[in-house]
Amino acid sequence: MYILAPSLLAADFAVLGQQIEETERMGAKYLHIDVMDGVFVPSISFGMPVIQSIRKISRQFFDVHLMITDPIRYIREFAECGADGITFHLEAAEDPDAVIGRIREHGLKAGMSIRPGTPLEAVYPYLDRVEMILIMSVEPGFGGQTFMPEAYERISRLRKKIDACGLSVKIEVDGGIGKKNVQEVIAAGADICVAGSAVFKKRSISENISYFMEAFENGEIRKE
Ligand code: DX5
Ligand code: ZN
Repeated sequence: MYILAPSLLAADFAVLGQQIEETERMGAKYLHIDVMDGVFVPSISFGMPVIQSIRKISRQFFDVHLMITDPIRYIREFAECGADGITFHLEAAEDPDAVIGRIREHGLKAGMSIRPGTPLEAVYPYLDRVEMILIMSVEPGFGGQTFMPEAYERISRLRKKIDACGLSVKIEVDGGIGKKNVQEVIAAGADICVAGSAVFKKRSISENISYFMEAFENGEIRKE
């Protein structure tokens, strides 16, 4: 089963609650929540108070993507404000195992992410310890960027590695995913697709999500 994770970053914050409810009603099981600190990435997004507020109106899986330096400092806060899963950047962590351990202590799912320029092999030692690997298909930091085609090869190589090891770790792909490429992204081996602009911008959220759901159904059929 493929999962759509709408990225909050592209939402209209003046009507955030309504937009989140629409994504949930349309079948998006995850909500992708990008936290940026202005240090690990150039931009600053939002933090705990926003997550705490929206937790009250959504039953979706809160997929928190931490683009912050030294993420271990904030695992407890994000767990307490309502995260279900926390993904951190391998490049930002001094001791990745300690971060994974801290996420687990709070009973949450652990994810690890790498920037487009980090060799894929860097995540291999952690594949049996995390629930999810997040492959960035843009340089982290901003929504609305163009998908980097080099990501396809990384997704399929990771898929092969996970399958060869008999593991069940999920592959999430983030950045520049939309109508044009979602089929290729899942065909390459992704389980979870993050989409910001393609869900919240242009047409209506409902129409946009329907398109993803259709693409996922077609993908299931092709897989059988
Ligand atoms: C980028 C973020 C993404 C971003 C995706 O740093 O991690 O989650 O919001 O947005 P789109 O789908 O617009 O590329
Ligand atoms: Zn993200």
